[in-house]
Amino acid sequence: MRAFAKKDFPVSKIRRFLEPGPIVLVSSAWKGETNIMTMGWHTVMEFEPSLIGCMISSGNRSFGMIRTSKQCVINIPTFDLAKQVVGIGNCSGTEVAKFEKFELTPVKGTKVEAPLIKECYANFECRVVDASLLPKYSFFVLEVVKAHAAASPKVPRTIHYRGDGQFMVSGREVSFRKLFRPENL
Ligand SMILES: Cc1cc2nc3c(=O)[nH]c(=O)nc-3n(C[C@H](O)[C@H](O)[C@H](O)COP(=O)(O)O)c2cc1C
Repeated sequence: MRAFAKKDFPVSKIRRFLEPGPIVLVSSAWKGETNIMTMGWHTVMEFEPSLIGCMISSGNRSFGMIRTSKQCVINIPTFDLAKQVVGIGNCSGTEVAKFEKFELTPVKGTKVEAPLIKECYANFECRVVDASLLPKYSFFVLEVVKAHAAASPKVPRTIHYRGDGQFMVSGREVSFRKLFRPENL
C-alpha cells in the first residue's frame, strides 16, 4: 500500500476533497415563476424516508422560492450540460428566465409544482420537511417524494465540482460488492 507524503493544507479548502458528489440543478416554482440554480453542497441523510440535506444561500432567488413553496426538484445533469450548469450558477433568477436562456425543457412533476428538467438524467421531486436550520445555516432538509431516472446509459457521466472552476467527470466503475455486508449495499 502507498503511504502519502503530505504538506499542510488550508482548512478552508478541504471541500475540494469532500464535495465531489454530483453537481445538481435545483428547480423551483412560485406564483407562476420558475427558476433553476446549480448546487454542490448537498448530502444524503437517510434511506427511508429518503432525506437530502442541502445548503442554499439566502441571497439566492431559489432560497425564497423553495422556502415559501416548500418544494423543489433535484435534477442530475450529465457532462453534456456542463456549460449550462456553470451558466445557471452564475446568474440569478431575479434577472434571467433560466429555462428559456439555457434552452431547458420544464416537465410537470407528479407530486410537486416545481418543474422537472427534461434534459437531466434523473429528477427527484422533493418537499421541505425541516426548515429549522435555515436561520443559522441556510440548510434545508428535503424528503424525496418521487424519483425519475433514465435506464440508459446504465452509468451516467455526472460532473463533480472540486472548486476553483474544476470539475471531475465520473469515469471507471469498480465493483467491491462481494466485500460488503448486504445491509451496507
Ligand atoms: C459549480 C457551482 C456550485 C454551486 N453550489 C452552490 C451551493 O451548493 N449552494 C448555493 O447556495 N449556491 C451554489 N452555487 C451558486 C448558485 O448556483 C448561484 O448563486 C445562482 O446564481 C443562484 O441562482 P438564483 O439566484 O436564481 O437562485 C453554485 C454555483 C456553481 C457554479
